[in-house]
Amino acid sequence: MAVDPQHFWLRGEKPASPVDFDEERGVWNVYGHPETVEILSDPKTFSSNVARLVPVDLDPAFLEGDLTQMDPPFHRKLRRLVSHAFTPKIVADLEPRIAALTHELLDAVADRDRFELVADLAYPLPVIVIAELLGVPSSDRDLFRQWVEEQVGGGQQLSVVDQGEEQQRELNAGLESFRKILDYFLEHAAERRRNPREDLLTQLVQAEVDGERLTDNEVVNFANLLLGAGHITTTMLLGNTVMCLDAHPEQAARVRADRALVPGAIEESLRLLTPFALTYRATMTETEVGGRRVPADQVLSVWLGAANRDDRVFADPEAFDPARDPNPHIAFGRGIHFCLGAPLARLEGRIAMNILLDRFPALRTDPANPPVLMPGTDMIGATSLPLLTE
Ligand code: HEM
Repeated sequence: MAVDPQHFWLRGEKPASPVDFDEERGVWNVYGHPETVEILSDPKTFSSNVARLVPVDLDPAFLEGDLTQMDPPFHRKLRRLVSHAFTPKIVADLEPRIAALTHELLDAVADRDRFELVADLAYPLPVIVIAELLGVPSSDRDLFRQWVEEQVGGGQQLSVVDQGEEQQRELNAGLESFRKILDYFLEHAAERRRNPREDLLTQLVQAEVDGERLTDNEVVNFANLLLGAGHITTTMLLGNTVMCLDAHPEQAARVRADRALVPGAIEESLRLLTPFALTYRATMTETEVGGRRVPADQVLSVWLGAANRDDRVFADPEAFDPARDPNPHIAFGRGIHFCLGAPLARLEGRIAMNILLDRFPALRTDPANPPVLMPGTDMIGATSLPLLTE
């Protein structure tokens, strides 16, 4: 399988140092686990507002409500508001619905000797769940897929060196889809203000902290963030876990025999094939990371996927061990931006994997049709994963 050169650590290659400077893009690469934890735990020095350093024009309205780009104190306020609407209980209550949906999707392929995991289960399952939670028609999911894919674009890495028109063109193309999806949510949000329902969009338009409500822009940008963050990553988690088990038949046999190992297999898949492999931070002041002096106003590419293979933290980091304990991987981030959807992703992963193992005793990849991986460097996962069932 072809691996992007930026993903050298996916091949088990160690970085020469935990932090280095990429002259071509003008960004710092961070590969080490302790260094990454240090960065993610210190939002004062390492800001999430990276857009200010990237040389392209972006309407600030697009970032309003985008938690991932915010720093305290605004981040704290918005995160509190949305956490009220997206509670652990709301997620836990989804268990029967997720199981029913998984069965329904797999019923459609039950009489075949092969199916394609991404199209048949791993993509539709999380997108239907998040659409139902938000309260928008899940039948619009082909539209969501198109919009999200256009927004994610080619998955190019950020560059602070002006890439000229090409970078701006790519951004503009993404923004056009962004606008379509925001208009879509705006319409639904306005409708919820008039006619409240039992859904997350209604909760978002009604949520109040210290007498303050979310603006329309904040509601739709947050809904868009949930839609994007909420499905592509979980799609990859499911595919990656199946690929990990497929590549390690002894471990797969162990997990099949002892289902208490399923959650551990999911954690280990998150560590070894980290779906959201790359995040960014910007330095607010001059600082030191991994023994290197980093000036103010620098962009750091924080490679969560590489940090999850740091042998200073994980013994035998290339091994897939569903019983690894402890497993302090940072696939969901760390600190104030820790993934809001982690409980949902874990729940979907556990339910879907258990049902796949129950229904297909001999599931395996198809040597004649190998998996196709996501393009670009920021995400790790399959866009197509053909499987044989016997
Ligand atoms: C944040 C990964 C699923 C919603 C994050 C971050 C990571 C991440 C690494 C932190 C980024 C940073 O600090 O720069 C993942 C992975 C997932 C997943 C690997 C699945 C396997 C989900 C789901 C949802 C979701 C299912 C929602 C339904 C969010 C939100 C944030 C976030 C809203 C921003 C939190 C904040 O900035 O305070 N995710 N995510 N994620 N994730 Fe997830």
